[in-house]
Amino acid sequence: MMIDTHCHLCKEDYNNVDEIIEHMEDNYMIAAGVDDKTNKEVLELCKKYYNIYGAIGIHPNEVKDSKEEELNFIEKHINDNKIMAIGEIGLDYHYGIEEKELQKQYFKKQLDMARKYRKAVVIHSRDSIEDTYQIMKEYKDVKMTLHCYSGSVEMAKKFLELNVYFGIGGVVTFKNNRILKEVVKMLPLSRILLETDSPYLTPEPYRGTKNEPKNVLLVAEEIAKIKNITLEEVLKITTENAICQFDLPLVI
Ligand code: NI
Repeated sequence: MMIDTHCHLCKEDYNNVDEIIEHMEDNYMIAAGVDDKTNKEVLELCKKYYNIYGAIGIHPNEVKDSKEEELNFIEKHINDNKIMAIGEIGLDYHYGIEEKELQKQYFKKQLDMARKYRKAVVIHSRDSIEDTYQIMKEYKDVKMTLHCYSGSVEMAKKFLELNVYFGIGGVVTFKNNRILKEVVKMLPLSRILLETDSPYLTPEPYRGTKNEPKNVLLVAEEIAKIKNITLEEVLKITTENAICQFDLPLVI
């Protein structure tokens, strides 16, 4: 069994989403929302497919257009069957530097919600790793995943102390990404989750085409290669990690 712990499967991402999901056969996915519209789609996907779980949240690039009631919507549905996390949330200074303070507010409000309802969170951090770390430090009791980790080895060591999980995606297969390969080598397998971030960040050798959850296998293969262990071990341990981190009602 394998679990793509982070993908986007919304209508604007694919026009053949049923097919894309079928490609995963009996493997599982956690679909993430980024705004009100996609959060509602995540709820629908969870109802429609036995092998999809959901995360709902307001992404840092969406806070500018977001309204208070969208946070209320998340709170209202946080305990819905199959909603396992709040995400994706976080900070992104690459696109939203002028909304820095608003991003921080939304990030903290959603972390507070996760704390209140004992839910996991899925965190996005782009060009904002230090601020992300400073905020996460205040929420050590929350189950946090840094999705698509792209920081340094040193920073990864600091995050390890906060007990976070690291979502590793297709970027790890890119030939020129020496740093991420070093990060994966250093991280204990017990802290790694597999993800694709579909439809983005397609792994080699399909780079340049639209990503989909089944490519999570390519990520697992690369991790096995880097850590010099078997693919079976990577799949077994990362699946156990995902079940534990997101409280998935699954048995391997
Ligand atoms: Ni994402």
